[in-house]
Amino acid sequence: MSNHNLKTDVLIIGSGIAGLSLALKLAHKRNVIVLAKSSLSEGSTMYAQGGIAAVLDPFDSVEAHISDTLNAGAGLCDPQAVRYVAENASKSIEELIALGVPFSPAENSQADYPFHLTQEGGHSHRRVIHAADHTGQSVLSTLIDQVKQHPNIKLLPNHMTVNLITNDDKTRCVGAYVLNKQSRNIYSIQAPFTILATGGASKAYLYTSNPDTSTGDGIAMAWRAGCRVGNMEFNQFHPTCLFHPKDRSFLISEAVRGEGGILRLPNGDAFMTKYDERADLAPRDIVARAIDQEMKIHGIDCVFLDITHKPKAFLESHFPTIYGRCKKLGIDISKEPIPVVPAAHYTCGGIVTNLKGETDLAGLYAIGETAFTGLHGANRLASNSLLEGLVFAEAARQSIESTSIENLAMPEQIPAWDSSRVSEARERILVAHDWDELRRVMWDYVGIVRTDKRLKRAAQRIRNLQNEIDEFYYQHTLDSDLLELRNLVLVSQLMVTSAQKRKESRGLHYNLDYPKTKSRSKPTILKPPKRKNQVN
Ligand code: FAD
Ligand code: SIN
Repeated sequence: MSNHNLKTDVLIIGSGIAGLSLALKLAHKRNVIVLAKSSLSEGSTMYAQGGIAAVLDPFDSVEAHISDTLNAGAGLCDPQAVRYVAENASKSIEELIALGVPFSPAENSQADYPFHLTQEGGHSHRRVIHAADHTGQSVLSTLIDQVKQHPNIKLLPNHMTVNLITNDDKTRCVGAYVLNKQSRNIYSIQAPFTILATGGASKAYLYTSNPDTSTGDGIAMAWRAGCRVGNMEFNQFHPTCLFHPKDRSFLISEAVRGEGGILRLPNGDAFMTKYDERADLAPRDIVARAIDQEMKIHGIDCVFLDITHKPKAFLESHFPTIYGRCKKLGIDISKEPIPVVPAAHYTCGGIVTNLKGETDLAGLYAIGETAFTGLHGANRLASNSLLEGLVFAEAARQSIESTSIENLAMPEQIPAWDSSRVSEARERILVAHDWDELRRVMWDYVGIVRTDKRLKRAAQRIRNLQNEIDEFYYQHTLDSDLLELRNLVLVSQLMVTSAQKRKESRGLHYNLDYPKTKSRSKPTILKPPKRKNQVN
């Protein structure tokens, strides 16, 4: 137990693009605490390559961005959410430019827009603004510089949220319990507004483009606190992650295909025209499935992405990160094709929110990848994710600023975290094994192609794992590894349950037992069971 309990106006859990943009927007009026379970920069945002989609070119149109997003979403997007994001996109980009994000300039001084716009799969126009192939790093370092200087923002890296705290009748979120990873103390932070900006859950899969932080903590915590989740069956697989024994989760940006890269078999044959008239620039679900199928037909470990027809100087300036990383591994991308495979990349579903970022629980918001706003439907359009984080940070700001803190009933005191009945774990091997088993089960049975049998088997295995992990959780001193595993196994269960409910194939969810797409369909919304005594 600890006496370091804190109070603040706004508690933001997560220091990616969503969390830090909101912190900066609110800090001139409110005191803000930002938590990150690792360093401030570690999260998916840091690794984003391709860029941010927005209508910036005068010859492009918001209607075209809306139509491309709806097409990629395969009939399951919420048209209102899509319009809201597309209409607010350019304003969000202007804010980043004003903060000093060093986006790549246009190559031609006569261009219609001062910054370079690249193309990615599913977009009918060049509309992706970027900083070479390290967009996320450039945006995040600008935001981190700004939040570090702000007197009203307290930054707590290496602090992992354990659970949300609700009021007595469980209708309002009043803060969170937090584990200080260095001291190992758990204490409470009380706040009238708590924001989950905790990123996605792609770490549920054995192979992923995501960093270790993507364990679905926000989704699991919101579910335990009584919030609905939506569309959890739609996990996006990025078609092109580097296939190399020394570097398993490095992404080869879709912008490489946007600039002319072609997917080929080991014998050099291009294959994407067989699958879609947009060939290599078809939406991701189609390209990932095509690669998976070609790998199975030919019994090969990977396919190849060929950009050798572009001059070396072009590749070095447009894709310095990819060029350098491949070079280090002995692959000169100007001379030889890049070995690639699909890997889990993005959680399209998440915590159900409205267009203000508000969840089912008063005082609790969810923004960024952890949220289900309705924007992505059954598949996310490339580069719409960083954008969603920015647009919903602004939406949440408006909602929070228009609510007066003074009228909110907050508890006098939050009960201290009780760790009197637990002991140090002696058999860590049990947790390590469960991690491996979970990620393999999800990869093998809940991957790019599913069947009813595989999903049933996944559900059984995950139920066993949940029982084992829960037992471990209630008996032992908590650490971040155990907390993450407990969250991820719950999120995996939600993914499988949602996949079992969808009796069709649509977007990212492809089930061989129901290969057809139904003429009408709805998002999969799951509601947590009511529990009388919510325990940690
Ligand atoms: P993140 O950036 O993932 O940040 C999550 C934060 O939450 C971290 O600070 C983490 O420490 C914190 N956190 C999580 N759980 C807890 C907890 N329990 N307690 C405390 N803190 C916690 N999208 C695009 O639009 N364009 C791209 O070009 C693009 N490229 C990508 C490339 C890669 C390799 C990857 C992995 C993703 C890419 N994406 C891209 C997707 C996009 O980067 C992410 O969806 C987006 O950055 C998510 O931002 P976020 O703020 O929601 O979460
Ligand atoms: C990429 O650069 O291919 C990733 C883009 C995205 O995930 O939107």
